[in-house]
Amino acid sequence: MSNSIPKILVTRKMPDVVNKKLMSNFTVSLNESDKLFTEVELQRALKEADGILCSVTERFTKKILNTTDRKTKIIANFGVGLDHIDLKSAKSKSIVVTNTPGVLTDATADLAIYLILAATRKAYLSEKKLRDGEWTGFSAVEDLGVSLKGKTLGIIGMGRIGKATARRANMALGMKVVYFNRSYIGSIDFPARPAQSIGHVMRESDIVSIHLPGDKGNHGLINEEQISLMKDSAFFINTSRGEVVDQKALIEALSTRRIAGGGLDVFENEPNIPQSLIDLDNVTLLPHIGSATKEVRDEMGLLAVENLISYFGDKDCPSRVV
Ligand code: DGY
Repeated sequence: MSNSIPKILVTRKMPDVVNKKLMSNFTVSLNESDKLFTEVELQRALKEADGILCSVTERFTKKILNTTDRKTKIIANFGVGLDHIDLKSAKSKSIVVTNTPGVLTDATADLAIYLILAATRKAYLSEKKLRDGEWTGFSAVEDLGVSLKGKTLGIIGMGRIGKATARRANMALGMKVVYFNRSYIGSIDFPARPAQSIGHVMRESDIVSIHLPGDKGNHGLINEEQISLMKDSAFFINTSRGEVVDQKALIEALSTRRIAGGGLDVFENEPNIPQSLIDLDNVTLLPHIGSATKEVRDEMGLLAVENLISYFGDKDCPSRVV
């Protein structure tokens, strides 16, 4: 490594504590206006900065990573999902890519539980009724939800967040857990039963919760056929990536009441949400806030900076992916 202070470009506005740590280690270019980078600006960033601290909103495609006269040697992502970075291209160009696993597991699992509760207790419909002045008082029979105790939660993708969601559902809510994971999962410290396939989970579950990475190979994995296997009383929850689900098929299943309802924190082609989804009253919609707590956003940023400090200090990065 050269002795000059590396230049780090930060693509989005970051928490103060993150900026402070960056500035005490590097020459830093911040984005205090938080305006999204265009392709051209990203290309310029790759030419000018030794390292880039980015987030899910910047798409490092093959074309962008092919930028000539590139100076950037490391992309430190603020977040765990890396589907917005072409990892194959990064690897072929020896660009190091890091992410921030672990620190956001609990917050995201908490939000999955929130969506399970919101969906099964008709939270959106009930709140809307109240805010619209349509609530006429307590009723013993109207707008009833379903209890979770003894019901089956189906987890698709039993990684860190899938496990944390399942643990909460089992231990706090008394739910049974069935799961599908492509690779064998060894140790689970609560009762959870592996299923043979995604289809088995879709068929058996009262609530299906998706925890799959958004890699290209997973795009549309939860398709019309899989959704058609769900019970008509079942609920669909997604806190991972919108692209892993055939969103059109999901909207169709929700709007025709083929399934009972859902809770979504992620969407295909964010931040564009189809009006046909907005119009539904049996689904709670949140704007990709799985990791959005003050504490977690600080930790994510600090871990991203740790990765940069390690890289430029010729040490192993705490969470290097490529
Ligand atoms: C993540 O960490 O992947 C979140 O979805 C934000 O990018």
